[in-house]
Amino acid sequence: MAESDSFDRRKFIKACVGAGAAVAADPSLMAQPAGELVPAERVRLVDADEKTLLPEALAVGQSYVFHYPYVTTPCFLIDLGLPTEPGAELETSDGRPYRWSGGVGPGRSIVAFSAICAHRMSYPTRNVSFIDYRHKPMNTEAPGNDWWSRGQVIYCCSEGSVYDPSDGARVLAGPAPQPLAAVRLEYDDDEKALYATGVYGGDMLERFLTEFGFQVALAHKRDDIRHPARNVTTVWPMSEYSRTGAC
Ligand code: FES
Repeated sequence: MAESDSFDRRKFIKACVGAGAAVAADPSLMAQPAGELVPAERVRLVDADEKTLLPEALAVGQSYVFHYPYVTTPCFLIDLGLPTEPGAELETSDGRPYRWSGGVGPGRSIVAFSAICAHRMSYPTRNVSFIDYRHKPMNTEAPGNDWWSRGQVIYCCSEGSVYDPSDGARVLAGPAPQPLAAVRLEYDDDEKALYATGVYGGDMLERFLTEFGFQVALAHKRDDIRHPARNVTTVWPMSEYSRTGAC
């Protein structure tokens, strides 16, 4: 991630101009129908040393963050510890259907979703995150079938939206009008490598960058907030990516 000490409003204006140039260079990222898969760069997931991230390096139940399909849009990477099935039929808030591709890896248990809440777009920053994965039940004293008791949910404590990462991030509870945008992953068994190759429900990302572009540009200290992730993207444990979990 580029760092600059002299980032200011003048640079932000330049960022807006740069964003237009990036989109012109890669129009597929702007042509985002709400719902269908939007192919993006095939990007290999790597660790902080830029080595291929092996599936076994992921701790079951922990959340990780990487940026995709833009260098500024955060996504969760999670090993649920249980196989998932492809084919969950979902739809966006304006009724466009899509089909989730399911988990990948040796146990088909590794999934990835945008970390931007579909309600009011709360997202993890370096200082704090109001949205995260909860592997353990939040209510361990009164077992039941509700999401509090079952765990394995993505929870946004801004207003209480709950998503099911084993079912394409379908909304289980709260005000979110649609699932989290989903990242299509591929697993190359020969390389033991994970790749991100596209996004479903991706128009949320454009709305996010339009609404939060100024904050994103400041946080990332870079001019080109819509620059596509290319070749590799670094995966960080959530505990390192964001200093504080708010919920
Ligand atoms: S922003 Fe996540 S529930 Fe409102």
